Order: sequence, then structure tokens, then C-alpha cells
Amino acid sequence: MAATLTIGTLRLATNLLLAPLSGYTDVSFRLVARACGSVGLAYTDLLCPEGVVRENRRSMELAATCPQDSPLALQLYGSDPDALADAARWAEDHGVHIVDLNMGCPAEKITALNAGSKLLCDPDRALRIVERMKKSLRRIPLTVKMRLGWDDRSIVAAQLAPRLEDAGVAMIAVHGRTTQMQYSGRCRLERIAEVVGAVRSIPIVGNGDIRSPQDAKRMLDCTGCAGVMIGRYALSSPWIFRDVWSYLTTGSIPPAPTLDQKCQLMREHFRNLLHYRGERMAVLEFRRRATWYGKQMNPCRMLREQMRFINSLADFERAIEQFLEWRAGRVVVKRPSAIGRDMSDQEGDLGSRISEPGRSQ
Ligand SMILES: Cc1cc2nc3c(=O)[nH]c(=O)nc-3n(C[C@H](O)[C@H](O)[C@H](O)COP(=O)(O)O)c2cc1C
Repeated sequence: MAATLTIGTLRLATNLLLAPLSGYTDVSFRLVARACGSVGLAYTDLLCPEGVVRENRRSMELAATCPQDSPLALQLYGSDPDALADAARWAEDHGVHIVDLNMGCPAEKITALNAGSKLLCDPDRALRIVERMKKSLRRIPLTVKMRLGWDDRSIVAAQLAPRLEDAGVAMIAVHGRTTQMQYSGRCRLERIAEVVGAVRSIPIVGNGDIRSPQDAKRMLDCTGCAGVMIGRYALSSPWIFRDVWSYLTTGSIPPAPTLDQKCQLMREHFRNLLHYRGERMAVLEFRRRATWYGKQMNPCRMLREQMRFINSLADFERAIEQFLEWRAGRVVVKRPSAIGRDMSDQEGDLGSRISEPGRSQ
């Protein structure tokens, strides 16, 4: 059901959340997704509490935000209650709207620290952390994002959720997989439904494999959850939130953005990166991110090829222009490296599906 969502004292305009995707959901991208419409809440990447409190450069890049990037949840990972409490206080003092504890990350470099989804194996520690963080926050809500459990023999989400609620957590987002599943297999909606049934009154947000408005509706209908969180699909289709909201409120889905509009989103994203990270980082980011945008712009091999060679804003603009010309059938484009392969012969790319870019966790 389309609805607003209240998390503690914070009322969101929609119940559609942009998931944290480390390495992808920085302020530059969040602004693009928000500009497309209907994002109720977005998250920072997962942040290291010590880095936040020391304000080290990388943590500050990841925590960067602006007034339009609102409301924002800052996500922390770790296993030291004091460090997490200090970082939560830092976040509150720096104007974020929610502090979120990561209890879902399956990456070894995180679980080896007894953090992320490893906390699901030690509920007492998880509770201690949450209680400590909750105490350090004065006004803003504390939330948790978690998986179902470590593996099929230890599915704990439905037992843990009411304990987290009692400890003061104001919302829980549940990815319907275990740590062992990583990103394979089916997202288990019936397990998310168990979590919904286990808590007294806090909202549960369902997450996993939403790739269309119909998927979002299925998540809401099958689990009874209060909202949905979308991750990977938003990277190629940041307008998915607008589509889901329209489908839930009117039953219809707006026409997809035109190719020109999609290129305009890429331009906005690149300009945001220029502003926040400078030209060098913008170029490096787009060399890898063009593949995600390309998923919704087929045939697009030429765009991906061109983006691999950009070194400046001017190169980026040229790559977009040439791609649009080529799609309009007006131009034969040479590779920027001048190696000389004629890129005009792209019929083989028509309708082709590109492989999923690598995932960092
Ligand atoms: C590249 C990548 C980075 C991620 N980073 C985070 C993260 O920093 N914090 C977190 O809680 N989950 C993270 N996740 C998990 C997502 O938030 C989400 O739970 C998962 O992708 C399932 O949702 P989806 O099917 O809509 O993508 C990450 C997932 C991917 C693929």
C-alpha cells in the first residue's frame, strides 16, 4: 500500500527507501534518485564509527550531504558499543535524521570484526550496542537494517526484532536472505512476514529483489510490511521510486524516461560528482557506473566503450553527445583511443543484456 511512513518522530513523505549500497549511494547519486521523485528516505554507505568521530577524509566524503539530500539516514557498522554510540552522537550533531545500525553486511572484512551480519550470531551483543546507541541519541530515531540470520539453521530475525523494538529501535529494514545466501537464491518474503508479525508496533521495511512496481506491491502485500527498500535496481533506474509510487497510488506506471532524459540524469550525476569529488573522481566513477545506466539504455555498448576512455568533463560530454548521435543514426563514431575500430556497427548489441557489474558486498 502507498503510504507515508513514520519512524519514531520522523514522518516520511513516502514509504519507499533507497537502500545503502556501499560505493554507490553517495550524495551525488542520492540527489539524482531524489530528483526523479518519491524517495522517502535514503542512506549513506556503511560508515566506520572511529572514522566518523575522527572525521577522517574518507568518512567525511561518505557522510557528505546537503539540504536537498533529506531526509537522510547515516549507517554505521561495528561491534564496539561505545564507539558506535559516539559516532551516533556525532551524526545527530551533524544534522542527519536517522542513525542506522548495519546488521546485514555479509562481507568478510566486516563480519571478521564481529560487525554487520555477524551481530545476528550474537543477539546479546547486538542488544547491548543498540541500548548504548539509543542512550546517546537525544532526538533522532535509531533504526536497524538486517538479514534473516547467518544461515538456514540460524534464522533469528523474528526473535530478535521484538527485542530490538524493546531496546528502542524505531524501524527495522529486513533483507529477506541469510548471510550465507549472499545475493543468490530467492528473497524470502514469508520470513519477512514473520518479522512483521513478531513486533508490537514499529514499522518493518521489506527489502530484496524489487525490480518493478509490481515487485514492490508483492513485497507489501505478501509480507504486510510498512514500506519497501530498493537497492541495485535503483542504480540503473533511479526513477523506480516514482514508478512504484504512481503504481501504488493510481494503478498506472508513467512512461519510462526518454533516452535524452536518461542522458540528462547521467549529466546531473556527473556534475554532482564534480562538485563533491572533483573531476578526477568524477571520471573514475563514471568509467565504472556507465554500465549500470547502460542497462536501461540498450543498445548501449558504444556508450560503455566511450566512457571507459573519458578523462575529463569535456570527454564525458562528448561521449554522451556521440552516443545520442549514434542512436539517432546520424554518425559513425571512432573509439576515443583512436585504435580505430568502427563503433557504428552495433547491431549485435541490439536488445542484448549486459552482465551485472561486480558487487562489493
Ligand atoms: C554493491 C552493494 C553494496 C551494498 N552496501 C550496503 C551497505 O553499505 N549497507 C547495507 O546495509 N547494505 C548494503 N548492501 C545491501 C543492500 O542495501 C540491499 O540490502 C541488497 O542489495 C538487497 O536489495 P536489492 O535486491 O534491492 O538490491 C549492498 C549491496 C550491494 C549489492
